[in-house]
Amino acid sequence: MVNMAPPDEPIPLALPPSPPGAEAPFVVRTGDGADDAACGRIMATSALASSYARRLPHAALLLADDSPLCLAGRSRMVGEVAGKVVGFADYRPWDGHIKYLFVHPRAQARGVGAALVDAVQNAVGGRVGVHVLAVNDSALLWYLRRSFRIVDGWEEPFADVPAVWIRLVRERLPDERP
Ligand SMILES: CC(C)(COP(=O)(O)OP(=O)(O)OC[C@H]1O[C@@H](n2cnc3c(N)ncnc32)[C@H](O)[C@@H]1OP(=O)(O)O)[C@@H](O)C(=O)NCCC(=O)NCCS
Repeated sequence: MVNMAPPDEPIPLALPPSPPGAEAPFVVRTGDGADDAACGRIMATSALASSYARRLPHAALLLADDSPLCLAGRSRMVGEVAGKVVGFADYRPWDGHIKYLFVHPRAQARGVGAALVDAVQNAVGGRVGVHVLAVNDSALLWYLRRSFRIVDGWEEPFADVPAVWIRLVRERLPDERP
């Protein structure tokens, strides 16, 4: 289990490109199984701190699961500051489906999530897509502000309770020409 409260120590962040003299540059790198434990902890911490967690009380145990997150054949991009993982995106390289995107609450709103999604799209070299719970409206808006568009919606259980899911896709990086 993880603590609901974020850690006391601030995570130092400097965004790419790091200004000269920045103490801890932010880097995005390819992740692997060695990051499973860090990613599992970030996923639980981020999920529990999110606005959608309050709308899914029946899923509290699932959201709080901070066990190592297995890659299960997928690929991974990791955002790191001073050697510390602050966010990650797990995706399927063959079709660009982003399975997980989580940024530690103390590292959010600094461009880490956007850098991770862009790195995935660069690596995939084409369309990327994601499935988002409809109750997670802040994430839906976040993707829409980054040129994703809604292409589908359906009902599927989440933690054994019926839920609405939304599929969004983005054909290319926002500044790429068609
Ligand atoms: C959704 C999520 C991944 C976004 O990650 P993030 O790192 O906070 O995203 P960014 O920092 O790129 O963007 C967040 C905001 O910070 C702003 N921002 C970007 N760079 C910034 C900077 N250098 N300084 C300050 N703010 C900045 C952006 O403008 C953005 O604002 P907007 O959403 O109003 O457009 C993160 O909130 C999260 O982990 N949520 C919980 C899990 C979740 O919902 N995952 C997605 C479902 S699949």
